[in-house]
Amino acid sequence: MHQDCKKILFSEKEIVERCKQLGQQLSEDYKENKHNVLFVGILKGSVPFLAELIKHVSIDIEIDFMAASSYSGTESLGDIKIVKDLDCSVVNRDILIIEDIIDTGLTIKKLKELLYHKDAHDVKVISLLNKQSRRICDVQADYVGFEIENEFVIGFGLDFNQKYRNLPYIGVLKEECY
Ligand code: IMP
Ligand code: MG
Repeated sequence: MHQDCKKILFSEKEIVERCKQLGQQLSEDYKENKHNVLFVGILKGSVPFLAELIKHVSIDIEIDFMAASSYSGTESLGDIKIVKDLDCSVVNRDILIIEDIIDTGLTIKKLKELLYHKDAHDVKVISLLNKQSRRICDVQADYVGFEIENEFVIGFGLDFNQKYRNLPYIGVLKEECY
């Protein structure tokens, strides 16, 4: 375990197993889909989750990426900027936003509004983690990997000041590190 990590919440094995279940569920839920499914990974945190998840999806999908910035350290600034937009069109398509974690919900709320504004047919959300107790707006993920308490977590894509994304597990960051 990394020295800055207080404890491991989910091992690599547990995450892969959960991605397998979610991938199978998505394949079932989207199988009749006629609206050209597009999975949208939110950079950079969702990359390891997206990479594992799509291996277990058996229907035809496309992937694209967006980057939204709202965080510096552990506190949300509440002000979300689109730093990198999609390369492809979302018009009349079914979109699945892939996130690492939903905390206050502000990022997801804004991204959903934006994609509907661009005439997406449907926008759903999958998040590896959900911190329900921190939610300040009325938005929910359609699919969640794991529910967690209000602790700052790192690994499997999740960072603190851009560090720890490469850890293969999800752990809690030691308080003395922030
Ligand atoms: P929200 O807009 O507050 O829901 O923020 C979601 C974003 O905050 C995520 O995509 C993460 O980048 C970041 N975030 C929230 N909580 C954590 C955490 O515990 N560890 C790492 N990043 C976090
Ligand atoms: Mg993020």
